[in-house]
Amino acid sequence: MIISREDIEKILTMEETINEMEMAFKNLSLGKVIMPVRSNIPLKKYNGIIYYMPAYIEENDALAVKVVSVHSENYKYNLPTTQATILLNEAKTGRLLAIMEGGYITAMRTGAASGVATKYLAKKNAKTAGIFGAGIQARTQLWALTKVRDIERAYVYDVKKDVMEKYAEEMSKKLGIDVKPVTDPKKLVEESEIICTATTSKTPVFNGEWLVEGTHINGIGAHTPDARELDTITIKRSKIVVDSYEACLKEAGELIIPINEGEITKEKIYAELGEIIAGLKSGRINDEEITLFKSVGLAVQDAATALKVYEKALENRIGKEVKL
Ligand SMILES: NC(=O)c1ccc[n+]([C@@H]2O[C@H](COP(=O)([O-])OP(=O)(O)OC[C@H]3O[C@@H](n4cnc5c(N)ncnc54)[C@H](O)[C@@H]3O)[C@@H](O)[C@H]2O)c1
Repeated sequence: MIISREDIEKILTMEETINEMEMAFKNLSLGKVIMPVRSNIPLKKYNGIIYYMPAYIEENDALAVKVVSVHSENYKYNLPTTQATILLNEAKTGRLLAIMEGGYITAMRTGAASGVATKYLAKKNAKTAGIFGAGIQARTQLWALTKVRDIERAYVYDVKKDVMEKYAEEMSKKLGIDVKPVTDPKKLVEESEIICTATTSKTPVFNGEWLVEGTHINGIGAHTPDARELDTITIKRSKIVVDSYEACLKEAGELIIPINEGEITKEKIYAELGEIIAGLKSGRINDEEITLFKSVGLAVQDAATALKVYEKALENRIGKEVKL
């Protein structure tokens, strides 16, 4: 079955994607998934990278591989930064069940992962959000936050003014909340109880000294050892929860750079998100701590979402059957 982006947009909800992420992260931390660390091919001369991401989740037999590219100069060609395709296989026989567009799934599952992290780590009564970056991921980040907290007001900052103004207008309408563009990143940090960084920046997007006690941060944009959206001060001040120890210690510049500089050790990482979901470790314990969810993105997130999309496509009789 071929499942297009248009089809997926019709059938996949943010609520169910959040539920799938809880299941996927929990199984990962309980050792019930098979997920080799993804392979990548850097395409430095094009300012791009391509990842090959396989995973199998025993609980629901989700078996898939995603091929995803991230090219930060694609705006020049009128193409999205992040593009992806997913192959879903049947675990029992290995037969191919579906080929589906993966860009929308990537954005939904990345937003949903921050949603889950925010549910466990942000202050219960948090009402304000601040988003760095006004691109594709930034949209699903804010959308997911509104599903787990009663967000009343949001701020957005992007280096491109027209892009952040468009984001503010579009997201205010979509979510029915007040979304304001800001030109001063310090104001965003000081006014937001929950911050998401969803940019293509390779250097820190704000100064960790500006952070107010009790803030929760979802850092999702950077995913190579030499790139980071968050500075060492933010890392030192935060209780750090990662999507995967193994993946973050291989790919997250936010952690790798301060470890290599001797500023922190890997023991500074408090937990994997799945350990908190499974009840093995506590989430936020008071209103003062600064919490950080660092995500580089995992194949289990795609496998879980792809299976859900396939099941819903069958239910709703959409998608196109082809003989290869
Ligand atoms: N963790 C994950 O699972 C995951 C999943 C998908 C994408 N990503 C990453 O998220 C990042 C964003 O992806 P996207 O698809 O939304 O890209 P995008 O190009 O649609 O949006 C990125 C935005 O960041 C802005 N930006 C760049 N530097 C900035 C800065 N210093 N301050 C504020 N804004 C800045 C750009 O102007 C752009 O509008 C990419 O690096 C991508 O690889 C991570």
